[in-house]
Amino acid sequence: MSNNQAVEYEVIENIGIIKGMNPPVNALSYLVRKGLVNTLKELTNNQKVEGIILIGDGKTFFAGADISEFGKPIQEPDLNQVINTFEESEKPIVAALHGTPLGGGLELAMGCNYRVALSSTKLGLPEVKLGIIPGAGGTQRLPRLAGIEKALSMITSGIPINTKDALKSGVIEEIYEDALIANALNFIKSKLHLERHPIVSKTSDKISNIDNQIFEVFSKKIEKKYRGRKSPLYAIEAVKASTNLDFTEGLKKERELFKICHGSKESSSLIHMFFSERQALKIPDIPKETKILSINSAAVIGCGTMGGGIAMNFANVGIPVVVIENSQASLDKGMKIIEKNYLNTVSKGRMSESDFKNKMSLIRGATNLDSISSVDVVVEAVFEEMTLKKEMFERIDKLAKENCILATNTSTLDIDEIAESTSRPAYVIGTHFFSPANVMKLLEIVRGKNTSKEVIASTMKLAKNIKKVPVLAGNCDGFIGNRMFHEYVRQAHALAEEGAKVADIDRVIYEFGWAMGPFAVNDLAGNDVGWRIRKRHKKEGKYDNLRYTSTVADQICELGRYGQKTDRGFYIYDTQTRQKQIDPEIDMMFEKVAKEKGIPRRNIDDNEILHRLSWALLNTGCMILQEGFALRASDIDVTYAYGYGYPHWRGGPMQYGQDYGLKKVLEEIEGFRENNPDMWPKCSYLEELVKENKKFN
Ligand code: 3HC
Ligand code: NAI
Repeated sequence: MSNNQAVEYEVIENIGIIKGMNPPVNALSYLVRKGLVNTLKELTNNQKVEGIILIGDGKTFFAGADISEFGKPIQEPDLNQVINTFEESEKPIVAALHGTPLGGGLELAMGCNYRVALSSTKLGLPEVKLGIIPGAGGTQRLPRLAGIEKALSMITSGIPINTKDALKSGVIEEIYEDALIANALNFIKSKLHLERHPIVSKTSDKISNIDNQIFEVFSKKIEKKYRGRKSPLYAIEAVKASTNLDFTEGLKKERELFKICHGSKESSSLIHMFFSERQALKIPDIPKETKILSINSAAVIGCGTMGGGIAMNFANVGIPVVVIENSQASLDKGMKIIEKNYLNTVSKGRMSESDFKNKMSLIRGATNLDSISSVDVVVEAVFEEMTLKKEMFERIDKLAKENCILATNTSTLDIDEIAESTSRPAYVIGTHFFSPANVMKLLEIVRGKNTSKEVIASTMKLAKNIKKVPVLAGNCDGFIGNRMFHEYVRQAHALAEEGAKVADIDRVIYEFGWAMGPFAVNDLAGNDVGWRIRKRHKKEGKYDNLRYTSTVADQICELGRYGQKTDRGFYIYDTQTRQKQIDPEIDMMFEKVAKEKGIPRRNIDDNEILHRLSWALLNTGCMILQEGFALRASDIDVTYAYGYGYPHWRGGPMQYGQDYGLKKVLEEIEGFRENNPDMWPKCSYLEELVKENKKFN
C-alpha cells in the first residue's frame, strides 16, 4: 500500500513493512519524512501488527538527509521528529539495512530498536565530508551503541564501515548474505515475546567513565589530518557532550554545533564539491541512452612512472590488463615497482596476501604489441614524443579489434594529431591520469575533434568503474588542469622576482590549505620535466619568449637541481628524511634575475601572494571556459580538488573566487595587469559575468 509516493507499506504475517521509495538513494526528503511518520501511525493503529520492519526499496536503505534541501526552510516533520516517533513506537522496529545507510539514514536506523543488514552494506556518518556534523542524534546515539572511540573515528573521518566491523562494534545485531526481508521477518518475530526492547538513547554503559584524554588525542590527530577544517572538531565536541550531558541536553548541543557548521563556508564549499563531482559526469551533447562499450580487458603500453600505476587501476577492479614494454629489462623494472606498491599496502595491513596475489595475477607483462588484439581498451603511456606516439598509434590501429578504445595518456600533445595517425580517429581519446596514477583520483578525459560520443560516454563510465573522478576537457595545450597550473607557476615565479621569498609563497599556499606550495610541487614532480618541454617548445618556436619569464626555473635545471630526486631543487632535501630546508641561494638567484630584467623589488604581503596565485588560476579558468575547453566552472573546481591537492573545503579555484566576489576579483586582476599585462590576458567571459552581475554555471 502507498502512504504517499515516497513511502509504501504492507503487512506480512502480522509484521508491518515500511518501505522507502525515493530513488536513487532514498534521501530523506520532506515527502519521505512525512510518509514515514504517517505510515508508522497507521501501523501502530493496526491491531494486527505486532512488529515493524523499516527498509529501503531499490539500491539502498536511506542514504541520508536530502542534501538539495539544505539551506531551504525545513518542512516539518524534521528528521529528529521522525526519529523520535520511531524511537517511541509501542511496537518493536527493526531497521533492515542494505546498500549505504549513511548520515540521517543511519541515524534513523539507530532510532529503531534493532538493526540487521546484508553483508555488503556500508554504514557511516559522512556528514563531515559535507562540512557539517550529524544533526539527527548521530553524535549522541552512535557513542551509546559503539563506544566513544569507534564513534569518534567514524564521525570525524566520515568513512563508512563494513558489516563485520558494525557487528563487532554493536551497531548491528545480525548479518545476512541475502533474503533481507525474510530474515528480518524472522528476526523481529523472534523478539516479539520480549517485554522490553532496547532503546539506544536510554543506554549509557558505553559512555560512562570515559577518560577525557581521548578527545584531546582525537583533536590533535584531526588538526593535522584536516588542516584548516572546523567540522571534524565540532564533531568531537558533540560526541564529548554525549559523555557529560544527558541525552536531551546532548541533542541540544549537537543541534547548536550543527547549526554553526550548516551555515559555514566550509559546508557550502564541500556541498558544491559533492554536486559538482556528479555534475561533471553529465555531458550536454551526449544523451543518457548513448551506447556504452563494455570493457572487460585492457592493455597499457609503457610501464614507466605512469603506465604501472594505470595498470594497477584496472587490476584493482578485477579487469585483466596486459602491460607492454619495449624490452624485457624495462618490463621487469616496471612490474617490480607495481609489486612493490602493492606490497607496501599489504605491509600497512590494508590488503591481504591473497588479494595481493589475485591483483598481481591480473597483470600480465609482454614485450610486443600482439597481445592488444583482444582487449577492449588500450592506454598508451610511452615517452612524451609526438613522433613516437604517432608511430605507436599507427601500430595499435593495425592490431586492435573493432570498437576498441584507443586512449593516450599524453599530458601536452595534440590528441587530434595523434588520432590522425590511425584509420579510426572516432575511437581515439585522451585519458590524462595524474601521478601517482594508482592514487590520484582525477582522470581528465580529453575529447578530440573526431572522438565519438560512444567513446566519450564509455570512457567516462570506465573512469567511474576504476574509481576515478572524471572530468571532460577539450583538446587545448595543457587541457584544463596543466594549462591553469602553468599560469599559476609562472605567477609564483613573477612574485619571487618581484621580491617575495620562495618559502613565503609556498607557506601562504600551504596555509590556505593546499597540500604544497608551487615550488615544493615542482621539486616533487621534477623541475627537469617542464624544462625539457620548454626547451622543445622554444625549438619549435611554439611560443614567444614572454611565456618564459622564469629564468630561475631554467637556471636551477642547468645546475642539475631537478628537485627531490637530486636532493636539490628550490629547496635542499635531506637524503634520508626528505625533510626540506630553505636555500637562501635561490632567493638570491631571483634577486639577480630581477636586476637583470629591471624588475623593481619590494615587500609583497601574504594577501597579494594569495590573490595573485588564486586569480591567475581563475583568469585562466575563465579563458578555458570562454574557448569552450571546459564545460563548466564546477568541472574546473573538481579538476583542482582531485588532481592538484586544492583544498576541497574551499570549493575549488572558481568557487573560491565567486565566494570572494567576481567583481572584486576582476578589479584586482585589472590592478595586477597594469604591472604585468602579459600575465593577465583580458577575458571577456569574466568581464561579461561581472557586467551582468552573473555567477558561474
Ligand atoms: N541528498 C540528495 N541527493 C543525493 C544524496 C543525498 N543525500 N545522495 C545522493 N544524491 C543524488 C546524487 O546527487 C545523484 O544525483 P544525480 O543522479 O542527479 O547526479 C544521485 O543521488 C545518485 O548519487 P551517486 O551518483 O552518488 O550514486 P552512487 O550509487 O555512486 O553513490 C551514495 C550513492 C554512496 C549514497 C552517494 O550518493 C553518497 O555518498 N551520497 C551522500 C550521502 C551522505 O552524505 N549522506 C549524509 C547526508 S547529510 C545528513 O544526513 C545530515 C543528517 O545528519 C541530518
Ligand atoms: P616514463 O619515462 O616513466 O615511462 C615511459 C615508458 O614507456 C618507459 O618505461 C619506456 O621504456 C616505455 N616505452 C617507450 N617506448 C616504448 C615502446 N615503443 N613500447 C613500449 N614501451 C615503450 O614516462 P611517464 O612519466 O610514465 O610518462 C608517460 C606518459 O604519461 C607521457 O605521455 C607523459 O607525458 C604522460 N604523463 C606523465 C605524468 C607524470 O607525472 N610523469 C603525468 C601525466 C601524464
